[in-house]
Amino acid sequence: MVSSLQSSVGTERKVLTDIPGPKSQALHQRRQAVVSAGLTVGFPVYIERAEGAILVDVDGNQLLDMGSGIAVTGIGHAVPALVDAVSEQVARFTHTCFMVAPYESYVEVCEELARLTPGTFAKTSALFNSGAEAIENAVKVARLATGRSAIVVFEHAYHGRTNLTMALTAKNMPYKDRFGPFAPEIYRVPMSYPYRDELSGAEAAERAIKIIETEIGAHNVAALLIEPIQGEGGFVVPADGFLPALSKWTTDHGVVFIADEIQSGFCRTGDWFAVEHEGVIPDLVTTAKGLAGGMPLAGVTGRAELMNAVHEGGLGGTYGGNPVAAAASLATIRTLRERNLVARARELGEIMLANLRDLQRDVAVIGDVRGRGAMIAMEFVEPGTKTPNAAAVKAIISHCQQEGVVALSCGTFGNVIRLLPPLIISDEQLADGLSVLGAAVRAVK
Ligand SMILES: Cc1ncc(COP(=O)(O)O)c(C=O)c1O
Repeated sequence: MVSSLQSSVGTERKVLTDIPGPKSQALHQRRQAVVSAGLTVGFPVYIERAEGAILVDVDGNQLLDMGSGIAVTGIGHAVPALVDAVSEQVARFTHTCFMVAPYESYVEVCEELARLTPGTFAKTSALFNSGAEAIENAVKVARLATGRSAIVVFEHAYHGRTNLTMALTAKNMPYKDRFGPFAPEIYRVPMSYPYRDELSGAEAAERAIKIIETEIGAHNVAALLIEPIQGEGGFVVPADGFLPALSKWTTDHGVVFIADEIQSGFCRTGDWFAVEHEGVIPDLVTTAKGLAGGMPLAGVTGRAELMNAVHEGGLGGTYGGNPVAAAASLATIRTLRERNLVARARELGEIMLANLRDLQRDVAVIGDVRGRGAMIAMEFVEPGTKTPNAAAVKAIISHCQQEGVVALSCGTFGNVIRLLPPLIISDEQLADGLSVLGAAVRAVK
């Protein structure tokens, strides 16, 4: 069965039917009867298999994946090393619960996390199932270790959809609306957003720190939680110097610096972790998504004295660090290393930035092109202004979908298109995707 699924899909985008095709439409009908309407329908095609950077739908259309399932499948789909590792682990055992009967792969993933995350000090980790769960646990650790309760987060932040992480997330619609009351002791301060605030990193940091000190009090703050490049909020890349200034302030005041690398980590930005770009060393790092190539796995990694401050039994969960997910993670990390995908992410970034900046010169709706490595975005505006243009984004995404290219939107104002291709995408595939995207942008009036 596994080997028949591995028959070659090929590497080309092919649109054979209307999008969505008849089989996808039929599945969509079935879905409506039984799947909650609360889940977004971004692209109503149903996937039957995938390989490399190509998704094949139930109608046989071959779609070019420029989103990696929201920054998850960095190593590509159906990578033989991952298929073998997962299949072998499933055949050996699927679950014991690490707290009941432990196994080596969990320890190995934690060894890798200690090696790969920035900082040469002793680190320990705990593994979970989702990004939100990792964030929740990082906050638990920071509060316990400091004996303080306030958590500082940023405008445009996204940290998840559980009750605590909704409180940490900035945008109301669709993530938070009418789901409250939310967890207390969360304080939001302005982010460095160079395109919109035009501040240097130092100025933006000073603005944020002033608010923290006057409105919260440094001695009340357990942790400062930040995405080094914001994901859902619009691929906001803070001005140089912003993260180092915040990091220094946290060190000076005994505040735990938590880097949420759930979207930006695991080679995505051309470094293993986005904080490395400016030499920032977080106290705790949260990871998920690209950590395990599509299997659900998340981690909190950090200074041993913080992580080990927790009493025995204080962290855990039934499935966290599940052996199948751990095997997938080890295969993923091996693949990232062997194929030097950190370097490939940088190349992809250069190609995408050059292409999109050329496009920006030709059209009036692109206000900003930004990002690092294979995490690149365009912010759309009304021509001649900085007024967000979400309508343009909707039209462009829809055009791309009709042509068989999977592209994602994001942004507090819904006016950003983000590109998160699998890091193994070929030059030809990337050129094809960018050409479809370019035509879609040019078609916007
Ligand atoms: C930066 C960041 N943090 C946290 C999360 C939440 O992760 P999950 O959806 O696995 O709970 C996400 C998900 O998009 C994210 O991008």
